[in-house]
Amino acid sequence: MTTPQPILRVEGIHKTLGDQLVLNDVSLTVNRGEVKILIGPSGSGKSTLLQCLNFLHHPDQGRIWLDGREFKATSRRELCAFRQQVGMIFQDFNLFDHLTALGNVQIALIKVKGMAKAKATHRAKEELARVGLADKMDLYPAQLSGGQKQRVSMARALAMDPKVLLLDEPTSALDPELIGEVLAVIRFLASAGMTMIMATHQIAFSATMAHEFLFMEKGRIVERGSPVHLLAPGATSRTMAFCAKINELSGDLGMAERRCASSSSALADKPQGGHGTT
Ligand SMILES: Nc1ncnc2c1ncn2[C@@H]1O[C@H](COP(=O)(O)OP(=O)(O)OP(=O)(O)O)[C@@H](O)[C@H]1O
Ligand SMILES: [Mg+2]
Repeated sequence: MTTPQPILRVEGIHKTLGDQLVLNDVSLTVNRGEVKILIGPSGSGKSTLLQCLNFLHHPDQGRIWLDGREFKATSRRELCAFRQQVGMIFQDFNLFDHLTALGNVQIALIKVKGMAKAKATHRAKEELARVGLADKMDLYPAQLSGGQKQRVSMARALAMDPKVLLLDEPTSALDPELIGEVLAVIRFLASAGMTMIMATHQIAFSATMAHEFLFMEKGRIVERGSPVHLLAPGATSRTMAFCAKINELSGDLGMAERRCASSSSALADKPQGGHGTT
């Protein structure tokens, strides 16, 4: 087994918003090639944590290391460089409506990476093809489905060559029939070794590829472990109880349990190291 290589590590993150302590002493490490899944009730702090990991929110306390180097947001330039390496995918896509799919990916390469236009066009086309949108490059967001828009936003993030990708409920704004195409891209990225931290309610899907589930409640990670253990048939974990509750609505838990049971040996063998996708 290869030695785990920490890509993103945080220790003791605290964040107060308004008068609420939203993150209370959160620590985690994600190693190269790992997929960590954030789950937990609404308001438990998942989005705030992801935003702190990308410095969209500045933590009030705590330390962050990226690829072994402690990051201190002392200048805009450093912050910009950090954000390129820690990509973020939002629930609501965050695309520019006045730009085509190609333009949305290209503009980040030109403005943020300082790439020449021709090179940026070439790279943007490659990334759009990678998410299955080779034939949609000239369409505007209003002409794309939700799933296609989310894939454009993923292509835009991937074009930055991130060391880690943060995904905040990437499928929750999508109609059920469009979720699969986005999950397929996420599965592809995971299999290609992309390091990811994702907040999601897609438990059954996540259980098949996650190295670790992190269960958040009231601003803390209160349980963590492999889905194989947390969702094993008969498990009494907090995660299992939560999943049972959300799956009362979708009837999904049986599938998660079956997948965990059948994939336990495969996951146990899963290498901790990975290969960059880009
Ligand atoms: N800008 C803000 N000002 C004040 N409070 C905020 C702000 N943003 C978030 N909060 C509060 O912080 C808490 C955590 O919110 P957060 O969005 O991180 O939760 P979440 O786990 O992502 O929830 P969900 O599953 O609904 O997306 C909530 O109680 C929320 O009301
Ligand atoms: Mg959220």
